[in-house]
Amino acid sequence: MPWLPGFCTLWLLGVVVLAQNFNVVSPQKSVIPVQNFNQRTGLKTDCLGSYMRLTVDKSLAFGNLVEFDVINGSKIEPLTPSLASKCGFSVTSDPWGNYRVFASLFNCYAANEDDHLFDINMRVRVRGVKAGQDVFQVDKTCSHEKWAPREVLCDRNYMEVSVKRLPGEITAMRRQPKMTDRQAKGDYQWVDSVSEAITSKDNIWRMVFFTPKQKAMLLEDALKAGYGVTTTKSRLVLRSGFDMPETYEENVSGVPMKMIKVTTYFKRQWSVTMLDTVAACPVGGLSFTDEMITWNFPRVNPLMSSGEATIVGMFMGIDGSEMDSAQMASRGYILTIEGNYIVMKIPIGGPDGYYKSHAVDNQYNIRYYIEPMLELLWSEGGMDSTRYRVLFPIETPFMPSPPQFVDFTDVDTRMFDVLLGPFLYDVELVNLTSSAGVLTLAEANVRGFNIQEQRFQNGSKAFRLQVPFSDSFVVRSQTGLLLTVYSLRLVFGFIIVPESVPFSYIATADVTLQDVTLPTLSGSCDQEKFYITISDGNMGKNFNIMLGNRDLTPDLKAEYDLKENGSHMSLVVPFLALDVAFELMYPSSLRARLDVLLWEPVNKWTLSDFSLACNFPMTMTECFSNGSMSALAVKVESVPQLVPSQLTLRDQSCRPKFSNDRFAYFSYDANSCGTTRKFYDGVMMYQNEIILGNGQGKGQGKTGVATLPLDPAYRVTVSCFYTINDTQTIAFFTKPRENEPLPETGFGELHVVLRLALDGSYNKFYAEEDYPVVQYLRSPLFFEVELLQSTDPQIELVLENCWATLKQDRSSTPRWDLIVDGCVNPEDYYETIFHPVSPGEVPYPSHMKHFEIKMFTFVQDGVMLKDQIYLHCDAVLCDADQNDGICKRLCPSPIPLKTGKKVRRDTTDQIQTAQLSTGKILFA
Ligand SMILES: *[C@@H]1O[C@H](CO)[C@@H](O)[C@H](O)[C@H]1NC(C)=O
Ligand SMILES: *[C@@H]1O[C@H](CO)[C@@H](O)[C@H](O)[C@H]1NC(C)=O
Ligand SMILES: *[C@@H]1O[C@H](CO)[C@@H](O)[C@H](O)[C@H]1NC(C)=O
Ligand SMILES: *[C@@H]1O[C@H](CO)[C@@H](O)[C@H](O)[C@H]1NC(C)=O
Ligand SMILES: *[C@@H]1O[C@H](CO)[C@@H](O)[C@H](O)[C@H]1NC(C)=O
Ligand SMILES: *[C@@H]1O[C@H](CO)[C@@H](O)[C@H](O)[C@H]1NC(C)=O
Ligand SMILES: *[C@@H]1O[C@H](CO)[C@@H](O)[C@H](O)[C@H]1NC(C)=O
Repeated sequence: MPWLPGFCTLWLLGVVVLAQNFNVVSPQKSVIPVQNFNQRTGLKTDCLGSYMRLTVDKSLAFGNLVEFDVINGSKIEPLTPSLASKCGFSVTSDPWGNYRVFASLFNCYAANEDDHLFDINMRVRVRGVKAGQDVFQVDKTCSHEKWAPREVLCDRNYMEVSVKRLPGEITAMRRQPKMTDRQAKGDYQWVDSVSEAITSKDNIWRMVFFTPKQKAMLLEDALKAGYGVTTTKSRLVLRSGFDMPETYEENVSGVPMKMIKVTTYFKRQWSVTMLDTVAACPVGGLSFTDEMITWNFPRVNPLMSSGEATIVGMFMGIDGSEMDSAQMASRGYILTIEGNYIVMKIPIGGPDGYYKSHAVDNQYNIRYYIEPMLELLWSEGGMDSTRYRVLFPIETPFMPSPPQFVDFTDVDTRMFDVLLGPFLYDVELVNLTSSAGVLTLAEANVRGFNIQEQRFQNGSKAFRLQVPFSDSFVVRSQTGLLLTVYSLRLVFGFIIVPESVPFSYIATADVTLQDVTLPTLSGSCDQEKFYITISDGNMGKNFNIMLGNRDLTPDLKAEYDLKENGSHMSLVVPFLALDVAFELMYPSSLRARLDVLLWEPVNKWTLSDFSLACNFPMTMTECFSNGSMSALAVKVESVPQLVPSQLTLRDQSCRPKFSNDRFAYFSYDANSCGTTRKFYDGVMMYQNEIILGNGQGKGQGKTGVATLPLDPAYRVTVSCFYTINDTQTIAFFTKPRENEPLPETGFGELHVVLRLALDGSYNKFYAEEDYPVVQYLRSPLFFEVELLQSTDPQIELVLENCWATLKQDRSSTPRWDLIVDGCVNPEDYYETIFHPVSPGEVPYPSHMKHFEIKMFTFVQDGVMLKDQIYLHCDAVLCDADQNDGICKRLCPSPIPLKTGKKVRRDTTDQIQTAQLSTGKILFA
């Protein structure tokens, strides 16, 4: 329920009404006479002493234009503001459309009977938007007899003073043309007993205004100027608007008052009568606190002949109606005399007034309006008395009333829930604006904002609004790695009705949630490529991808085949790609690492960091049977200053055959570039080093003697192990120190063959397809064992064991030893003969062994077992300079030593042995 304006309550008090008539005159309807106030017409009249009050209820006026007419005889004239202040009317309305008209009983158009009965006719026009206009006729008679000798009325737009013109008897009365009905009854007799000259205002000779300078005017000039001057049977009435030129303002005890002061001269045959009329109305004297209005009215005012006046009555009223002290007490009104002032105190917010919203510089303000009345009665010199009434509309200053913004948001619902208020009844929410746009209320509701208007008991209201976090009106920003701030920044657009004054209110609500799911990285490798998968997380794709040290440009994305679907991205990166770091070189693989970083460009946050290292098969060293070797050097990340083209072998004149900024490729022979050779139990190892010469390498190879830098920044040992071809497993395990390139190890094969020569010249040999070879018993068989291809003169081929078997399997029995531990088997009676290979015959005599046996057959228990044999040898490679083991076995003299004691081989099993066999040799 909104504030009840004061006059609504007055209806309940029930004022005695003498007589009233309302007639509805409408073009569409017949004239409906209305006897008393009722809800249907919404019109009400009250006689309140020296004026009549007409109220028009909002039910009649709502949404319509309400206008008033005055009736002068048969003429109907609209009540304009200037006519109102000249003729004694005032009109006011409240925000709901309740109208109030005060009409002085001495108004220009009232039919005045004897200064006692006053008949007032008016019309109320209600112009609707739709249905033409309704016209209500108001006909009201008020009776008022107790006129004080001087009556002063301060209405909102005029001041009026009436004074008793003729002391003593009533001598004449003008008759108004409206009073036809009463005239017919003959109730009143109109007698002229005094000269017509005196009763008629035509006899006013002249008027002198004090401004306070004197200014004389003829009556018609005063009327023309807009003053109201009337003479009634017994009184002279003077009326003036507040802003007329002959008014002036006076400071009365600090209270500004508007004054009009006129002396009127009546001409009466040979003499002149003069009458003083003064009105003084306050235009100030107000002071305000947050709760209270204080109105000070000067106790001694310019209407009093100073000192002699005695206040005999003092009353307060609201909206023109007097109140009794009980009513005042119930409202908390106070009317007292304090020092020089009559003081009226009115609490702000009481039900007799009302609040109204205002936008002041776009700030929400409210104001309280109330219209008190002050009535004073004073006498001077015990005789003359004055009734003084002021209708004094008060509006408080603007009171800033910033609404409260209350945030009820419960993060679990993921919805902002805010309340803005309170506002007065006359504020409407029109729209909502954010950076995302403007929404009308209807649009906002359709969009899923739940907008509700909440009403308080006192009629105020608040607006409650719910906005899902997911709405685009909500701005999301990431303030920390995992923190999202949801911000609702809204401009509430309001309008104050009915004036349609807009204002706005900016409100912000923030919620911080730890609800970020960061993108994650995973990956795998195959033999050639890295496969990276990025799972997006929930912050969209607004992150950069950095591979190695480079951000992925669109070009690189294409190069790495970046694909994306709604939730993932994938990349394929070859292990030799520029963005891959090489960590370590292994003999036949490269350990390469791909670093992937996801980062947020605005705040430069690292979102995800991922490294994947894999071993990719890669031939780093190749060892060829002819002693050629090749090695690949890779720029590893631990040696960032490495320039591959500056790498050399030990002999710094040996430079890469090919290089780019990440690789250097070397190819060289076993006996060049400072390659060294070592034997490990028959395994041969060639070694060289790839060195970054620290820039000292240049020109140092001129003498052919390599000078190694003392502590090269990069040193890769390249090893080639040559084993005899059927031996697969050469282990070379050393743990690399951290960040140190592993020694390069390659494996090579040395090829050793066992062949049967056609004869002792060792020029021709049986080929594979010649087997089985057929021989006579005890005919000589010439065998050759040779290390093929190698060009290293330091290698010596040594026959460790040779034996014959009956079956192809070299470990089968029966078996007959021919050579044992490098020496002919003494138990064979030296039937086996070594033939030296002289240096002239072949380039590398140490690579070859010749021996001869006599064809034999196996006999068991005197029975020849079979007419065939197979020959087998174990051959080892020795360093020509090596002095121990099988390599430098000194065989006993060819005299049989029947010691039976075998010389054991003291080498380990690791010795590399070529296991050689011939094909089948048949006994002819
Ligand atoms: C009323 O009408 C009469 C006649 O038309 C006119 O002389 C008089 O001035 C009018 N009264 C007012 C107050 O306008
Ligand atoms: C009125 O007069 C008083 C002194 O009499 C003075 O203090 C005050 O300022 C004046 N007020 C105005 C509005 O002139
Ligand atoms: C109306 O009631 C609300 C809630 O109790 C309060 O905040 C507001 O100030 C009141 N309005 C007025 C004008 O008193
Ligand atoms: C939103 O409402 C305000 C206040 O009533 C008004 O000034 C503004 O023009 C409106 N904006 C739009 C786009 O309608
Ligand atoms: C996107 O790709 C990822 C991985 O490649 C897959 O797991 C996911 O199902 C795909 N999503 C859609 C919507 O295709
Ligand atoms: C050794 O063999 C390889 C591979 O067959 C060949 O490239 C190289 O030139 C040869 N080296 C010599 C010195 O014959
Ligand atoms: C040794 O070399 C021969 C001839 O080149 C080849 O036939 C044989 O397969 C090789 N042995 C092994 C174990 O690789």
